[in-house]
Amino acid sequence: SHHLLSVSQFNRDAIDELFQLADVMQPIARRRKVSRVLEGAVLANLFFEASTRTRVSFGAAFCRLGGSVCDTTGFTFSSMAKGESIYDTSRVISGYADAIVVRHPEQGSVAEFARATNVPVINGGDGPGEHPSQALLDLYTIQREFSRLGKLVDGAHIAMVGDLKYGRTVHSLIKLLALYRGLKFTLISPPSLAMPAEIVEAVSRNGHVVETAATPAQALAGADIIYATRIQKERFANDEVLEGFDNAFEINRALIESACKPEVVVMHPLPRDGRPGSHDLSVDLNNDPRLAIFRQTDNGIPVRMAIFATLLGVEKLVSRSMRDAAW
Ligand code: CP
Repeated sequence: SHHLLSVSQFNRDAIDELFQLADVMQPIARRRKVSRVLEGAVLANLFFEASTRTRVSFGAAFCRLGGSVCDTTGFTFSSMAKGESIYDTSRVISGYADAIVVRHPEQGSVAEFARATNVPVINGGDGPGEHPSQALLDLYTIQREFSRLGKLVDGAHIAMVGDLKYGRTVHSLIKLLALYRGLKFTLISPPSLAMPAEIVEAVSRNGHVVETAATPAQALAGADIIYATRIQKERFANDEVLEGFDNAFEINRALIESACKPEVVVMHPLPRDGRPGSHDLSVDLNNDPRLAIFRQTDNGIPVRMAIFATLLGVEKLVSRSMRDAAW
């Protein structure tokens, strides 16, 4: 496909190719090299839902390769607020842009947008559905963290904590990791926010161990990675679903020190909810080297550059076009 809608489009060879290209992009992302390989190209960044990382890093990645960005955000930026269809919107934007990133609160809506156009469409998150570029940058981060620690993704033990029902980042990530061999997943969520059964069954069928646990303290002992997520309160109507959900779900320094391997890697797609009682990743780990969250956000740039270069067919031109940065 010339779109990026789901991680199910990937096999391990395609992941390896994309990550090799992301490595090539690192000097550009770090502002040591310049490439104008997308000069003249226009990205339409259409965000019907709030975003910091995905919107800005897709935009920055496109600009760093020489392209320009039409940036939009909020519920009312487009004439869809006046009842215009996804189909018409997609056809219109296709005449303006060479690549389109869409985030939308409804699952399946980005695929619907993509069906109306031949311009490459990237799913920047469709409701509780998927967030494929986030899963790719997460896996890229895991590989880099493991390379430093002398570990492989094959055989890893990954604990996923928090809202596993509505968290699209964990839906995409667990499917992507299932392409590797012999993984163990420990899923830790309130019962009402559990990972969808069809995803658990698919991952189990691929030969991985999937266990559930009621609280992190019981479950983290052997984990190589803790992947924490925010409770997606905007996706359910009332607070009843949070009954029985207490501070046992906060990932903080005391828990990491008492329950985890010393070299555990702590990840989170962000944003984290820093308000009191939010049961999210604590700020008390901010200066802990095991906290990989800002390495994840940094890796979003080279991985998204690699996604654009691949979808727009300029991946072989990047190395040739690179020159030293002038600043
Ligand atoms: N991780 C992520 O998708 O963050 P934003 O919602 O800020 O884009």
